[in-house]
Amino acid sequence: MNEVRAVIARTKQAPVELATILVPDPGPDEALIRVQACGVCHTDLHYREGAINDDFPFLLGHEASGIVENVGDGVDNVAPGDFVIIAWRAPCGECRSCRRGRPWYCFASRNAKQRMTLEDGTPLSPALGIGAFAELTLVAAAQAVKVASAPPEVAGLIGCGVRAGLGAAMYTGGVSRGDTVAVFGCGGVGDAAILGSRLAGARRIVAVDVDERKLEWAKSFGATDVVDASKTDPVEAIRELTDGFGVDVAIEAVGRPETMLQAFYARDLAGTLVQVGVPDPSMTVELPMIEFFGRGGALKPSWYGDCLPSRDFPMLIDLFLQGRLELDRFVSETIDIGDVEDAFAKMQRGEVLRSVVML
Ligand SMILES: NC(=O)c1ccc[n+]([C@@H]2O[C@H](COP(=O)([O-])OP(=O)(O)OC[C@H]3O[C@@H](n4cnc5c(N)ncnc54)[C@H](O)[C@@H]3O)[C@@H](O)[C@H]2O)c1
Ligand SMILES: [Zn+2]
Ligand SMILES: [Zn+2]
Repeated sequence: MNEVRAVIARTKQAPVELATILVPDPGPDEALIRVQACGVCHTDLHYREGAINDDFPFLLGHEASGIVENVGDGVDNVAPGDFVIIAWRAPCGECRSCRRGRPWYCFASRNAKQRMTLEDGTPLSPALGIGAFAELTLVAAAQAVKVASAPPEVAGLIGCGVRAGLGAAMYTGGVSRGDTVAVFGCGGVGDAAILGSRLAGARRIVAVDVDERKLEWAKSFGATDVVDASKTDPVEAIRELTDGFGVDVAIEAVGRPETMLQAFYARDLAGTLVQVGVPDPSMTVELPMIEFFGRGGALKPSWYGDCLPSRDFPMLIDLFLQGRLELDRFVSETIDIGDVEDAFAKMQRGEVLRSVVML
């Protein structure tokens, strides 16, 4: 058993706390990871708000990289000393989706079997089956993906938001050469969707946000046009920018009904809506069926950008190391483990793309 410092959300909507937690040594098929860096994602805040589920207390943090400290019996994909990115998807190979050859949807993704706990034995619910605002974390070994050596604060971001945004464009949305794209919400996830659209060859990429500063950053990631939705109707603006038609792919990266509807209506006929922003369970949208049918195309939620971590993480690190993917530009600041609550506030004020906790 290992005693380490970690960031927990004890009760709904209360500020997060730095606590001592107990992390078991790895059992069969598990790996103990010495976390080096973990990004602060909006999904951590969703957990703290009770917007994901009510399984408090949560061990937060899930965009992480680190060094394998130890592994349990039967582990052969990683060994102590390996540099890894932790994935929240580790396909089981056996569920009905994996058996149909669609492991990127895996419905029974693997996690550590043993629980990390508070000092009094209360089991913690690790965010997205990871829980990496902690000096050590226990995961299923299959969640640890070995990659080439890279700055930990950059590598960790591939574990969630950046990977989700890139994949929302490249995999879920299937953006390809010559497409027009609109991205609603230019945080870490939305900017990664912009970067992914650029990589895939989109000819026009319209960034939509309500914050001027975010729109400036979006341009630097490859947006060809920007729309401030606090001043202009984004659907109208997007039509004007696309000869009156709308975009081929509209990506919603906020997680709100109004932006989902804007993305729905900003599409050209037969266009694709990708929903990568995570809604609160209370949110609903109302759509006239004739608009749904009449516009055709597809409405597609994007879980983790439909990525396959074992295939995609090493590839993205290689592209980064070759200077072809500016992942380092997502790191706005590095912070201490005690500063997560402050980082949430900065995220809400729009001051950062990613604050990354260094351990
Ligand atoms: N589907 C997945 O696998 C996955 C993975 C990671 C994160 N997410 C989700 O993606 C979303 C974005 O995450 P993030 O970390 O980039 O968050 P963020 O808070 O950094 O970014 C959200 C952006 O949306 C903008 N915004 C807010 N209201 C808006 C509006 N009405 N119109 C346009 N823009 C608006 C904000 O100004 C901000 O720039 C969150 O809901 C997060 O939970 C999903
Ligand atoms: Zn599976
Ligand atoms: Zn995340």
